[in-house]
Amino acid sequence: MQTLNIIGAGHLGKTLGRLWHQTGLFRIQSIHNRTLRSGQAAREFIGAGRACDTLQSMAEADYWLITCHDSEISALAERLSKRPDNREGTVFFHCSGALSSEVLDKLRPASIASAHPVHSFADPLRSLSSLPGSSVALEGDGPATHALGDAFSAIGCKIITIEARHKSLYHAGSVIACNYLTTLVDLSLRSFAAAGIERSSALKLLEPIVLQTAQNNMTLGPEKSLTGPIARGDLETVTAQVENLVSVDPQLACCYRHLGLACVALARRGPLSEESASRLIELLSEPSR
Ligand SMILES: NC(=O)c1ccc[n+]([C@@H]2O[C@H](COP(=O)([O-])OP(=O)(O)OC[C@H]3O[C@@H](n4cnc5c(N)ncnc54)[C@H](OP(=O)(O)O)[C@@H]3O)[C@@H](O)[C@H]2O)c1
Repeated sequence: MQTLNIIGAGHLGKTLGRLWHQTGLFRIQSIHNRTLRSGQAAREFIGAGRACDTLQSMAEADYWLITCHDSEISALAERLSKRPDNREGTVFFHCSGALSSEVLDKLRPASIASAHPVHSFADPLRSLSSLPGSSVALEGDGPATHALGDAFSAIGCKIITIEARHKSLYHAGSVIACNYLTTLVDLSLRSFAAAGIERSSALKLLEPIVLQTAQNNMTLGPEKSLTGPIARGDLETVTAQVENLVSVDPQLACCYRHLGLACVALARRGPLSEESASRLIELLSEPSR
């Protein structure tokens, strides 16, 4: 069985480690986190491997998964490049959405790749069952991407390939849909709070409509899913909402206006008249509101 070392077994690293251990695809070997205690906790979660307190004390392995924070990857690659075991046939990969495999360049002649799971690992235990079915964007050297395609497929992931030069834009796409959705829910809660509706009631109220909207977008596409005052060209409602938001929370009003402009662009691809669109753009662009 091929061996896997993990550097930075946090939310993502320990989830992949446990899934690959359970499927018997890799023998989990050395685990190195910033602190030994954290490495030992990751080892407990994975159910295999040995926590090491230094890079030097890690055993040789066929695959090296580097899942520390993005800002640490380059420095770790530099330190790993000093080890004598970077040879052809070894695979080094990271899971950053923003960085390409080139950040591991110093590790050649080993084969390098990036493999970004389009999944939120906020709760590793839940991810064990929810990761299968998610997509993983692969990019890098042929031998590494080929082998990793098989490894991720073995734990139920779908594979897409991406060019290194497109990684940043690709990642922005998932940041907007995933992270900004979370922030939109928070903005929505702030507006409800200003209306005197407390958080738990607001979340209950939002759950069905947010889930249904997400589902509509996935099945019908954004053009057919957009409803509400901007889609209807209801200038009076939009004017009142901007004014009320300005009076309670200027940042909320600013987000409403900016996203409102993007809503107008989307609504224009549907039945919104050019006249209504122009009036909405004028209203939402007005900096004093
Ligand atoms: N979380 C997600 O939903 C998600 C989704 C897609 C991609 N990613 C990518 O996955 C990677 C890991 O993210 P994460 O959320 O799993 O991070 P995380 O939970 O914060 O885990 C990071 C781990 O790296 C360790 N670490 C930090 N610096 C280190 C160093 N210099 N040497 C050794 N270990 C070090 C930390 O050790 P300690 O515990 O001792 O501090 C921690 O265990 C990132 O590249 C991220 O962009 C994350």
